[in-house]
Amino acid sequence: MHKDIKEILFADTEIQARVAEIGAALTDQYSEATANGEEVVLLSVLRGAAIFMADLARATEIPLEMDYMALSSYGSGTKSSGTVRIVKDITSDIKGKHVIVVEDILDSGLTLQFLINYLEQRGPASIEVITLLRKRNRAQANIECAHIGFECPDEFIVGYGLDYAERYRNLPYIGILKPEVYE
Ligand code: IMP
Ligand code: MG
Repeated sequence: MHKDIKEILFADTEIQARVAEIGAALTDQYSEATANGEEVVLLSVLRGAAIFMADLARATEIPLEMDYMALSSYGSGTKSSGTVRIVKDITSDIKGKHVIVVEDILDSGLTLQFLINYLEQRGPASIEVITLLRKRNRAQANIECAHIGFECPDEFIVGYGLDYAERYRNLPYIGILKPEVYE
């Protein structure tokens, strides 16, 4: 275990098993629509969700497009700034397509609330949200998620894509960062 990690919450094997379940659920959900020629876009929120989406895309059998948006709400601290900025916009035209938003972690929900509103203006056939983690945060916006990988405690989490000041994304497991690292 990395010296800055207080506790491992989800080991890589556990994560892969959960990703396989969500991938299979997506196959069930969208097989018919895609067989009828409807299109699906898997949209990841950079940079945290990129690793999750790469694994999820390979765990499902439906034909899909992969696209990326970059949003900024955090800076290098551990608390959301509340204002969300688009750093990189979506490339695909999502009009009439099924958009599956893949997020790393739902904390205050402000990022997803902003993103869903933004995407709705572009006329997709549907939007659903998949989040790898949902933090137990009492002040969370009400975001409907089709799939949640895991519920996690209200602490600062890193690994498997999640960072603190751009570090720890490449840890294969998800763990709690020792508070002395950021305090
Ligand atoms: P929200 O807008 O407060 O829901 O925050 C969502 C974004 O903040 C996520 O996409 C992450 O990039 C980041 N974030 C929130 N909590 C954590 C955490 O515990 N570790 C790493 N990043 C986090
Ligand atoms: Mg994120």
